[in-house]
Amino acid sequence: MTHAVKISGTGSYLPEKVLTNYDLEKMVDTTHEWIHSRSGISERHIAAEGEATSHMSAAAARNALDAAGITAEDLDMIIVGTITPDMVFPNTACFVQNQIGAPNAFCFDVEAACSGFLYAIDIARNYISNGSAKHVLVIGAEKLSSITDWEDRSTCVLFGDGAGAVVLSVADEGERGIMGTVMGSDGRLNELLNVPGGGSRHPASHQTVDDRMHYMKMAGREVFKHAVRCMSDAATTVLAKAGLTVDDVACIIPHQANARIINAIASRLGTKDGIVYMNLERVGNMSAASVPVALDEAVREGRIKRGDIVLFVAFGGGFTWGASVLEW
Ligand SMILES: CC(C)(COP(=O)(O)OP(=O)(O)OC[C@H]1O[C@@H](n2cnc3c(N)ncnc32)[C@H](O)[C@@H]1OP(=O)(O)O)[C@@H](O)C(=O)NCCC(=O)NCCS
Repeated sequence: MTHAVKISGTGSYLPEKVLTNYDLEKMVDTTHEWIHSRSGISERHIAAEGEATSHMSAAAARNALDAAGITAEDLDMIIVGTITPDMVFPNTACFVQNQIGAPNAFCFDVEAACSGFLYAIDIARNYISNGSAKHVLVIGAEKLSSITDWEDRSTCVLFGDGAGAVVLSVADEGERGIMGTVMGSDGRLNELLNVPGGGSRHPASHQTVDDRMHYMKMAGREVFKHAVRCMSDAATTVLAKAGLTVDDVACIIPHQANARIINAIASRLGTKDGIVYMNLERVGNMSAASVPVALDEAVREGRIKRGDIVLFVAFGGGFTWGASVLEW
C-alpha cells in the first residue's frame, strides 16, 4: 500500500551575526552596488565560532517538530542535506539525533550540494509512501562560511549560513501532499563548482592548505547558464508530471542563488507576478538550506495556505538539480 506524504511542520534557524555588503567592502575589492546589482544580495548570516552545522540543524528541527505537533521520539528517520558536515564522519544527522533526543530514528546525510534538501525530501517521501516510516525529519543546513575563501571576491560575496527543517508525515485522508518530483545530475560538469581539497582525491596536507584547495571554487558565468536551464526544465517537467500548469501554482520556492537566475526562470516559466518567494537579499545563498529556510519564512508569513500548490526547484554542484510540487 502506498501513502500520500505531506509536510506537517517547518522550522528554520539563522545565526545571529549579520555580514553586510558594506562589511565585505572592507575585506575584498568590491562594492555594495556590484554585489547587489549582480546577485540581489545585501547581507547574509554567519555562524559563530564553535557553532556547527548540527547546532543550526537542531535549532531548526525543534521549530519544525513544534509546528508538526510531534516529539523527537516520534521520528523514524533523520536526513540532513549538507556539503558542510560537522565532520567527515559521523554524519551530521547523527549529531542532530543526539542533540534533539530522537532514539528511534536512523540517520544519514545526503550530499547533493544546493539540491541536497530536495534529494532528501524525495528519499524520505519514498520511505513514508511504502510504509517503512511515519515521520521523517528532513533538514537542509550549511555553514558555508567554513568553506568560503574570504580573499576571493568572486565567491565570498554570495554565500551565508543557516538551517531549515521540515517534518514529512503520512498525509490525512483526502490530502494529496507531494504530487511529483524530478531529480537529475550531470557529473561531467563537476569542475565548474567544487571544493577540490580535503577529500580522498586530495587529502588535507600543508600543500592543499597553501593552495587554498579547501575552499569553494566556482566558474560563476558557466554555473549561471546551467542553473537557469536546469531549473526551468525541472520545473516544467515536474508540473507536467503532476498534471498541472504554472497557472495552478500559488507559490514557487526556488533555490536562492541569485535574483537574476530566479527572475530568468520565472520569465521562462511565465509565472504570475508575486508568486516567487525570495529572501536572498537578507540571507544570501545557503546551498541546501536555501529552500527550507525560504519555505519556513513563507509559511510563517502566511504566503502559503492550506490547499495551495507549491513548487520547489533547486540546482547545485555536481551538477545536481531537482523540483518537487505539492499541495499544501
Ligand atoms: C557570480 C556572479 C554573481 C557573477 O556575476 P557575472 O555577471 O556573471 O559577473 P562576471 O563573473 O562576468 O564578472 C564580471 C566582472 O566583475 C568582477 N567581479 C567579480 N566579483 C566581483 C566582486 N565581488 N566585486 C566587484 N567585481 C567583481 C570580475 O572580475 C569581472 O571583471 P572583468 O570583467 O574585469 O573580468 C554570477 O555569475 C552568478 O551568480 N553565478 C552563479 C552563482 C551560483 O549560483 N552559484 C551557486 C550555484 S547553486
